[in-house]
Amino acid sequence: MIEGKPMSKEEAKRIVDDLYRKMHERWKEKVTQSLFMRRLQEGTLPMEAIRLYYRNWAGFVLTINTLGLAVYYKQIDFLKQDIRLMKMFASKLVDEFGKPEPPGHILILVKTGQALGLTEREVLDTQLLPAARALGDFHKVVVWDGGLSDYWASVVWEEAMGYFSQDWRDALMKKYNLDLNQVVYYSTHYEADLKEHEGTASHASIVRGVLEYMLEKGYVDERIGMGLEYCAVTPCDLNGVMLQGILDELGIK
Ligand SMILES: [Fe+2]
Ligand SMILES: [Fe+2]
Repeated sequence: MIEGKPMSKEEAKRIVDDLYRKMHERWKEKVTQSLFMRRLQEGTLPMEAIRLYYRNWAGFVLTINTLGLAVYYKQIDFLKQDIRLMKMFASKLVDEFGKPEPPGHILILVKTGQALGLTEREVLDTQLLPAARALGDFHKVVVWDGGLSDYWASVVWEEAMGYFSQDWRDALMKKYNLDLNQVVYYSTHYEADLKEHEGTASHASIVRGVLEYMLEKGYVDERIGMGLEYCAVTPCDLNGVMLQGILDELGIK
């Protein structure tokens, strides 16, 4: 257990690297190799499943993005310790809420949803399946009940999300005949999560930077029942639960 004491840059980096390695391993097992993703990439997943997943995913997006605003408020005393931290977090929020223009990514979320045959209301007003609720609800609990650093560990999977977006973009274009314009939600997240874009660091490198800073300065104080590793890998499982939940709902085997 890490107990709120400062450590060297090297030690902090080692812990964060290890966290990312474990998250990617779990992601591969629970998401990349899932039946849902395999069938999507083969092009054998019915459109009905893609639409149902996308509606449930959109509900999660609304949760996780607005949760970022709550975290900004909740962690302001930490963030103001270093204006660079405020800049890193704020630039991520600017992406989510300001690009391509306000209200932000919600616009491209709707656009790709429409290309999949959904209406704006279907994208925005879905009652989530229980299996799809778990991911967003977990993130809320981490923010409300966890330590400061638990939130940052819980979004380490944004790096996997970049590759996941690439898989979605490619599958929708190659197997489901969508064009580059229509898959904008996924192409944007592939870019934003993994690459420096329009002068903003990738979301993955922002999260990594904040976590290393927290460890170095001694802000990480792990609690029983939460902690960095648990918060980093659990969303991988819950993404897997969501994907399988869609297949179960539609009786797809
Ligand atoms: Fe986004
Ligand atoms: Fe992101």
